[in-house]
Amino acid sequence: MYRLVYPGSFDPPTLGHLDIMARALRLCDELRVAVLISGSKQARFSLDQRIDMLKLAVEDLDSAGRIVIEGFSGLLVDYVQACGAQAVVRGVRNTQDFYYENDMAEINRHLSAQHETILLPAKPELAFISSTFIKELDRLGQDYQAWLPVSSYSYTKEAFQHRPVV
Ligand code: PNS
Repeated sequence: MYRLVYPGSFDPPTLGHLDIMARALRLCDELRVAVLISGSKQARFSLDQRIDMLKLAVEDLDSAGRIVIEGFSGLLVDYVQACGAQAVVRGVRNTQDFYYENDMAEINRHLSAQHETILLPAKPELAFISSTFIKELDRLGQDYQAWLPVSSYSYTKEAFQHRPVV
């Protein structure tokens, strides 16, 4: 089985993430969406909330159950190894992302030479969307419905209301 890992914070998941998942799914038998449990930044949403939002978002994408969503902590390459995946997939929106992703791929290659990183360019119409902007729009009382997966929008909106504004 050819398995890919799509890791991220998904805080919250956006249409850009969903598009990368749809395209990555065409490249593998199983896509593991690996949600970072706690990174260097404090997540706005809990792990359970981020997993719930992702599950709602992929409902229409994955009738065959080829997407597995779960939390991970520690080194990404350890998770990739443990779940028997062949490669990591990440989206690239712009040159800034490219420099960051290229460095991360290189570090991961030093840590585990047998796992490749596949970088997928974001569609231009989705390239400006980020979880950071979604959180900023919410903080400033603006709508962000257009940038979130239709099925998870209500959940995300509700979840925002039950988190402290930071
Ligand atoms: O959505 P993000 O926040 O850009 O995702 C970043 C993520 C989760 C892919 C990255 O922080 C990560 O892989 N963290 C796990 C720790 C790790 O393996 N770091 C790389 C070597 S220093």
